[in-house]
Amino acid sequence: MVETDHGPGAEATPAPTGHTRILDWVAEIADVTTPEDVVWCDGSRTEWDRLTARLVDKGTFVALAAKPNSFWCVSDPEDVARVEDRTFICSHSRRDAGPTNNWVDPVDMRTVMTEHYRGAMAGRTMYVIAFCMGPVDADDPKYGVQITDSEYVAVSMQIMTRSGTPVWGRIGADAEFVACLHSVGAPLRPRQPDVAWPCNHTKYIAHFPESRTIWSYGSGYGGNALLGKKCFALRIASVLARDEGWLAEHMLILKLTSPQGRNHYVAAAFPSSCGKTNLAMLEPALAGWKAETIGDDIAWLRFGADGRLYAVNPEAGFFGVAPGTGTKTNPNAIATLEQGNSIFTNTALTDDGDVWWEGLTATPPPHLTDWRGNDWKPGTAAGPAAHPNSRYCTPIDQCPSVAPEWDDPAGVPLSALFFGGRRATTIPLIAESFDWNHGVFMASVLSSETTAAAAGQVGVVRRDPMAMLPFLGYHVGDYFAHWLRLGNRADPAALPKIFQVNWFRRDEDGQFLWPGFGDNVRVLKWALERIEGTAAADTTAVGYVPVPSSLDLSGFSAAAKRRADAALEVRHEEWIDEIASIEDWYAGIGSGTLPTQLCDQLAALKNRLAHT
Ligand code: GTP
Ligand code: MN
Ligand code: MN
Repeated sequence: MVETDHGPGAEATPAPTGHTRILDWVAEIADVTTPEDVVWCDGSRTEWDRLTARLVDKGTFVALAAKPNSFWCVSDPEDVARVEDRTFICSHSRRDAGPTNNWVDPVDMRTVMTEHYRGAMAGRTMYVIAFCMGPVDADDPKYGVQITDSEYVAVSMQIMTRSGTPVWGRIGADAEFVACLHSVGAPLRPRQPDVAWPCNHTKYIAHFPESRTIWSYGSGYGGNALLGKKCFALRIASVLARDEGWLAEHMLILKLTSPQGRNHYVAAAFPSSCGKTNLAMLEPALAGWKAETIGDDIAWLRFGADGRLYAVNPEAGFFGVAPGTGTKTNPNAIATLEQGNSIFTNTALTDDGDVWWEGLTATPPPHLTDWRGNDWKPGTAAGPAAHPNSRYCTPIDQCPSVAPEWDDPAGVPLSALFFGGRRATTIPLIAESFDWNHGVFMASVLSSETTAAAAGQVGVVRRDPMAMLPFLGYHVGDYFAHWLRLGNRADPAALPKIFQVNWFRRDEDGQFLWPGFGDNVRVLKWALERIEGTAAADTTAVGYVPVPSSLDLSGFSAAAKRRADAALEVRHEEWIDEIASIEDWYAGIGSGTLPTQLCDQLAALKNRLAHT
């Protein structure tokens, strides 16, 4: 048993597990990293109170006066986002990481990182957190154990995952688990005072897919440090899914109920900051429609005995982008945060102990503390009060729109999959694929603008296959083959239909053609009517597109209707450029690995564009 009996070791606790590999691993890491003490987390409210109080004492957290049990913090100004250039897939063979990932040989990476970890937790407490991605009563629960020297990470993991005593109790003596090692990389000498946000200029986010292991070093930011999320539930899980015949995807999960009372579940993949959380908490603009939230970021998709594809949200909280979240754009997110029990990172702080960010209210309060901890007054400040990637971390079960089945171990059966990006031109508001392979083709060439397009200008387009570019744990060509294989061996009638959407098409003046947000239900309604066989469509070169009268635009002005028509247009001259860009993307994957079905789909698209 790993237990120390000195210093602040009053906290040191006995191990709540007899799992030999976990005990040995924790002992080994404690030997290397030399923490002051080792705490096995139970995930209790008492533990939350103790750790949040410690974070307040250290100056990391400010307790909010305006929201119960909620805390504000700012990070080191250099530790504000995922670090894609420091993220590595360390598969045995370089080939398996594919052309879209950074690769380092796993033996070399372990050697280099072990030297960074040596003594890295000196003067700190090492926390051991057991967690389960997805409902704890699942048939095949996926466990993780995270070691971290950050109290911020320990409390955030309580929100974002099912963790603590119930999970320790379920991890059987030799159950599989993903070993997640995290250190902020900031050891303390005796009596050296700590800083509010410890981190290291050197950062590594390393994944070892064959041994199902994650090593993260140097960052405290959510996407780099809460290892259950992107690192496990997407990068490592995509490898598990490949090996076990399922899919781990960057998707929201939504339940829709029509005025007639018919239910449909849908999932949608959009790249980061392209509207997943917004759509997941949709307030429908059409009377009688109801939307309920199941997940806002990650979906695990497995086939059920009935041949249908079922979706589970592996997470238990939202780690959402704060700026742009307001009562107009996302009232459900605001209501979730009002309940309290939340952590805000890199937003601004008001003088009366509340948080603020751009887009929360139309006008900012007269004085704020900005995300760098400086005084901020509207009109005089150089930059925004909240960092553009500032985030809230809040429990999903507080969300007023949460569906009761969000925690169902069986998941929910999907009627449709949507893939969308941020495109000023070319991509219509919605297009239905002709069949599964065509839908996989659409998803494999999904693209989004890296920078917000200036008025009239088109941004830089980056291919982001299935919105998974930064999150794939293996070769992108193999991933496409996996998608094709799963669909081709399934009953076509039971498969979800695949649609492509684009909320972000613009006019010549750079204005969005489609109002978006709550009005997106009109687009979803058309898709569901296609599934039920009642909506009319034009067969275009790029897919089935609504005939104008089939999209419910009730309440729209004549001008708004004309703009919606423009958003639906398929312009062949734009698609000529698109084809060239798709060919470049496919060429980079390599003809040896790119499935021939996708080359056939591209050829068929070119042929349709030439002949329609
Ligand atoms: P991650 O959590 O980083 O994976 O991103 P996300 O996909 O959850 O993004 P989020 O929902 O936070 O989207 C944020 C951005 O998309 C904000 O700038 C929103 O204003 C914008 N957005 C969301 N939905 C719409 C829409 O329907 N139309 C338009 N024009 N903008 C939208
Ligand atoms: Mn995301
Ligand atoms: Mn989100």
